[in-house]
Order: sequence, then structure tokens, then C-alpha cells
Amino acid sequence: MRVFSGIRASGDKTLGNYSGGFRQYVATQDEAAADGGEAFFCVVDLHSITTPIEPAVLRESTLSVAAWLFAFGLDQQRSTVFVQSQVVAHAEAAWLLGAVSSFGELRRMTQFKEKSEGQEFVSAALFNYPVLMAGDILLYQADVVPIGDDQRQHLELSRTIAERFNLRYGETFVVPRGAYPREGARIRNLQEPDRLMSTSRGAPQGVVRLVDSPDIIRRKFKTAVTDSGREIVHDPEAKPGISNLIEILAVASGESIADIEARYEDHGYGQFKQDVGEAVVELLAPYQQRYAELRADDAELRRMLAVGAQKAATAAQPTLDRMYERMGFAR
Ligand code: TRP
Repeated sequence: MRVFSGIRASGDKTLGNYSGGFRQYVATQDEAAADGGEAFFCVVDLHSITTPIEPAVLRESTLSVAAWLFAFGLDQQRSTVFVQSQVVAHAEAAWLLGAVSSFGELRRMTQFKEKSEGQEFVSAALFNYPVLMAGDILLYQADVVPIGDDQRQHLELSRTIAERFNLRYGETFVVPRGAYPREGARIRNLQEPDRLMSTSRGAPQGVVRLVDSPDIIRRKFKTAVTDSGREIVHDPEAKPGISNLIEILAVASGESIADIEARYEDHGYGQFKQDVGEAVVELLAPYQQRYAELRADDAELRRMLAVGAQKAATAAQPTLDRMYERMGFAR
């Protein structure tokens, strides 16, 4: 089994990214290693320039995301962790695959429509985003792509592109399938439980950032919204706030939802919120420590990433060569 996933280098990462992303990557690394497979984790910095981003912000968020990947337990022994722009095959593959991606398909992408709507400047890069993403995956002949729900349409298009290329130029690519997070992996904003916890939208007080200090984390949980009534039960429709907190505690402590409900039968909201906050502080502490160590020495971090880029380039090259060859380039 070959696994590939791309992680956006943008914004501050949150507890939501841990639950729905980082945690999954580490599990995937272990699964892939257990059955003799390989896993690739790519910080997709080339995707970050599809909407305006300050150069200094791009550089910092690339290194930051990479450090979090290592901090949570990915390692270059068992996986390949790298930065997209350091493996030039990605830019090349995107150009070549542009020939088998249609204008109509790209124009129909929901994310393109949403991100371009009302913008004064819509880049050609934003339009081509899904082609770059298809190249990321196809270059590695990945079977499985762990990915968020919002990326279903892009993954479907990657499959279409792979199939079209195979049909036109002969069998070249594995057609990948998406692996989507289970329900419960979707942590919500502590102030606005009707929306996912992400830094780009929603009340900042309801967003737990991975870099938040213990005191800030405690405060955010203390002020989390709850629901009417006083029962601590998991009922996302009637009790979105409490249900979210139960799910967060399940993620942080590894307990089941039923066990948590049983344990809190005779407790009030106040104590419960405090306990969830404490569990999150404890969960994050060792990772934050490791992150701080990695960020204290960016030279070492860059060295680790250079190792990944080398491995990735070696893995991608045969597929890229085959693409050029099949398409008829006289190289
Ligand atoms: N588009 C993905 C996202 O927004 C990131 C991404 C880029 C990706 N290339 C990928 C994910 C390849 C999986 C595989 O989350």
C-alpha cells in the first residue's frame, strides 16, 4: 500500500487539525509500515500561492507545519516527509497533466467558485490548483489518499485525470482512492459549535491553537458555550456544545463516548469543562515541547526536510520520466 497526503502550509494549526489530520497521519504511517507499504507526507507550499500570501508568511508556515508533522511523530525512517517545492517534479507534472484536464472540469470545482467569488484578482494558479494536486498524488502511484471531506471533488478529479491519461497514453498511473475522516474527528469551534474549528473563520476564543499556552487553553475551555439542561450526554442535535466537548475529551483521553457519559453522570458543566481543558493541556504538552525543540533549530529542521525531498524525488522520478516518454517528448 502506498499512501500520499498533502498538508496545506497556511495559518496557525489548531486542535481540529490534530484531530482530523495529524493524528490520522501518524496512524497511517504505522499502518503503512506494518504491511510493508510506504507513506508520503507533503507540505504543499506550491498550493499556498494560489491566493495572495506574504513571502515571509509562506516561509514561516511551511517550516511550522513541517515541524508539527515531526513533533506529532512522523519520521523519515518510516515515512517520507517533505516540502513540495523542493521536489521539482510536482511543478512539471502539473504542467503535463494540464493537457488532460479540461477547462470545463476546473471551472465546475466548488472550491474554485467559492474562493474566486467576489475577488478582484483571481489567479490562474487558483484555477489550476486541482491539476497540481492530481500531480502530487499520481507521481507517487499512491493507492490511498487520507484527506478532508472538503477535498472529495478534487480527489474525484484526480481519478478522472489519471484515467484519461491512462486511456490516452497507456497505463501509467494507479487510480487513487480517498480515505475520509470518520465522524467524531470533526472538532468544532468552542464558541460556535455549528462550525468546524479552523483559524480562518469563527470566533478566535473558540479556536484552540496548537501553540496556545496551558493557561490560554484552560481559559478557552472555561468559557466554552454549553447548552440548556445540565446533562452531560452526547446528542449533537440537541446539545452541540456539550457533544463537541465530549468528543474532544474522547480524542484527548482515548476514552469512548459512552465511558465519558457514564463517568460524568453526576457532574455539572463547570467541572466537566475544566476537566476537558486539562485533558487537552496534557495531551498537547509533550508535542508542544517537541515542536519548540524543532523550531529552536531551523537548520536541523531543514536538514530533515532535505532528506525527505531526496527520497521523494527518487520515488517520483520514474513516473515523471514515463509521462514525458509516453507523451512523446524527445528528451
Ligand atoms: N488540497 C488539499 C487540501 O486543501 C491539500 C493537498 C494538496 C493534498 N495536494 C494534495 C491532499 C495531495 C492530498 C493529496 O487539504
